[in-house]
Amino acid sequence: MADEIKAAPPATFKVTIDNITIDVKPGTTILNAARQIGGDVAPPAMCYYSKLEGSGGKCRTCLVEVAAGSTADPRPMPKLVASCRTTVMDGMVVKNITSDRVLDARNGVVEFLLINHPLDCPICDQAGECNLQDLSYNHGEEGTRYQFARRTFVKEDIGPYIQLHMTRCILCYRCVFVAEQITNKRVHGVVDRGDHAAISTYISRAVDNDFSGNMIDVCPVGALTDKTFRFKNRVWFTKPVDAHRNCQTPGCCGKATLWMRGDEVFRVTTRKDPWGEVQSFDGKPGWICNTCRFDKKDAKDWVVEGLTTISRHSVIGTNKYETLQVPAETVKEVMKGQAPKLLMNIHNVSEVNNPNIHLSEIDRPAHADDFSESATHTPGQGESDQFGRTN
Ligand code: SF4
Ligand code: FES
Repeated sequence: MADEIKAAPPATFKVTIDNITIDVKPGTTILNAARQIGGDVAPPAMCYYSKLEGSGGKCRTCLVEVAAGSTADPRPMPKLVASCRTTVMDGMVVKNITSDRVLDARNGVVEFLLINHPLDCPICDQAGECNLQDLSYNHGEEGTRYQFARRTFVKEDIGPYIQLHMTRCILCYRCVFVAEQITNKRVHGVVDRGDHAAISTYISRAVDNDFSGNMIDVCPVGALTDKTFRFKNRVWFTKPVDAHRNCQTPGCCGKATLWMRGDEVFRVTTRKDPWGEVQSFDGKPGWICNTCRFDKKDAKDWVVEGLTTISRHSVIGTNKYETLQVPAETVKEVMKGQAPKLLMNIHNVSEVNNPNIHLSEIDRPAHADDFSESATHTPGQGESDQFGRTN
């Protein structure tokens, strides 16, 4: 019998997410396929970070429904799947915001994340740029059903640059992956298990590696914040600008965002992409060193390129009108070239509110008849009006 000739696998897979079909490379995760579509179709991700190997699969905020597994096996998957860890198949059909099951599960995940997270946004340095704050606005409940005490931890000093607030940590492991993958000296990790699991150094060591500041940028909540910026300013009062310097530290891209107020540089961070991850330059993640981040707080140290593009939904863009795009005027077009009449005298177009009617003198609720022509007829000399007044 002649050998069967196997068909070559397709170079791209067709996947449909929330009724939008795209072609992606085999091996792409559902989350990354959805990011290629963009907008609300992309599930939220609190632990996945595309630039950190092994990240994802911890927080469950990215759950989606697989309505059809593939063209070859179109059965739906019985359980919701973590989109950051599930790769697409040819002909797969996925539901994210079009699935009530997904939205319900996401509300539940947010409720779980908030069980131990303190609601201290008004005093938290991450407020305004916190992924959990955004998520709870979209999926959170007003109240909590949890009746037990929240977890508390002994405060731990992890060094001169980074403040650890363990009560805010959601154990996403991103900072551990940063320390493991981009520094050569990881001294912290998740210690203990279950309800006692915590980010900590072993044993009370200072996190002082040259690239340790990047842990602050990947933390999705306010568990790791910049000690040199704490309580100095609210991010929405600062103006972010893109800048670069000729940094000689190997591995530092030298491209950063300066958070300025007037001429003062309050904070230096990596540049972020639309998914809140560090931007890539020449195909490599644009991490910055601690010298750029903590020691170069003078505008003269940097070459400013221009204003940072901020999402129009972000509170950080509030009151910053420099890049405002005035929308095209469409009213004239709709009104066949006529300019809209924005101010008009209400008495010209309506009989109500007639100045000759004194509502305070009607001893009952006003009625349309009170504004009829006869009622509003101004009485002549010697005539009496509807209230019996004589001119
Ligand atoms: S400290 Fe932040 S980045 Fe690290 S595990 Fe906790 S939430 Fe994640
Ligand atoms: S982003 Fe997928 S499980 Fe956290």
